[in-house]
Amino acid sequence: MTSKIANFNRYIFLRSFHVTNIPPCYNCSNIIKRKLHLDLQRVRIRERAQLRQQPVFATVSARTMSTLEQKSDFIFRQLLEYKSFTYTYLLADLESKEAILIDPVIETVDRDAKLVTDLGLKLVYGVNTHVHADHITGTGKLKEKFPDCKSVISKDGNAKADIQLKEGDKIKFGNFELEARSTPGHTDGCMSYVWHEKGMVFTGDAVLIRGCGRTDFQQGDSGRLYDSVHKKIFSLPSHFFMYPAHDYTGQTVSTVGEEKQFNPRLTKSKEAFVKIMQELNLPYPKQIDKALPANLLCGIQPS
Ligand code: FE2
Repeated sequence: MTSKIANFNRYIFLRSFHVTNIPPCYNCSNIIKRKLHLDLQRVRIRERAQLRQQPVFATVSARTMSTLEQKSDFIFRQLLEYKSFTYTYLLADLESKEAILIDPVIETVDRDAKLVTDLGLKLVYGVNTHVHADHITGTGKLKEKFPDCKSVISKDGNAKADIQLKEGDKIKFGNFELEARSTPGHTDGCMSYVWHEKGMVFTGDAVLIRGCGRTDFQQGDSGRLYDSVHKKIFSLPSHFFMYPAHDYTGQTVSTVGEEKQFNPRLTKSKEAFVKIMQELNLPYPKQIDKALPANLLCGIQPS
């Protein structure tokens, strides 16, 4: 009986190959099932081909952008200093090769300078978002390495710099420019920098990913920070990428829309936000006694 069934299956198998001239299906010997398998295969092949022709609408992450730069007109690099978890940003115009560094850190100046040189860039500005308390800025040391580089910080921070910015000033590099937006509250002189053309904002410590800078020292004022963020950052288009000065959880980027929806502090009412900030009870910053005096002098440590 078994051999009769086997013979019948072999007959169907060979006959179907003879009739259709299509390579036999090894999954079954039944011609109807085999036809279904072949139809299914054809549908799958067609679907795959259609998918290949469709444009892919995906969110472009910071890391993807850095790999796309050869087809682009700009360079974007996010660099980490892992002692204070500070992000330094390298932005450049590929046509003129002019570049800027936002929030460079003294310990990683050599790394950043090498990257600038390797990429054949001309560093025009070393920009700080504010007078940092947790690390010493690298702008002073960068100026020694790149004599044409100018240091930039907000006028309200009362720190020494070649250029002191006020609200609405522009930082130009090649064909691009950043708009300076005053966002005090973490410190008096906090500035956020908006790259409108590329849909990015560099927020310093005003807004962090799902958090914000502390407001218990350096002229901190929670109510002022709340107003700054809502008026100057959350008023930007929701799709703008938001790059903070720090992240302690391994996150690299957020968007304005995400923070408006998910930031656990800044989505609250102003009164609730002020209360949260009052009750944080954070420890005294480790490097503040060394960092503040140095940062008031562009990162050159007083001897
Ligand atoms: Fe800070």
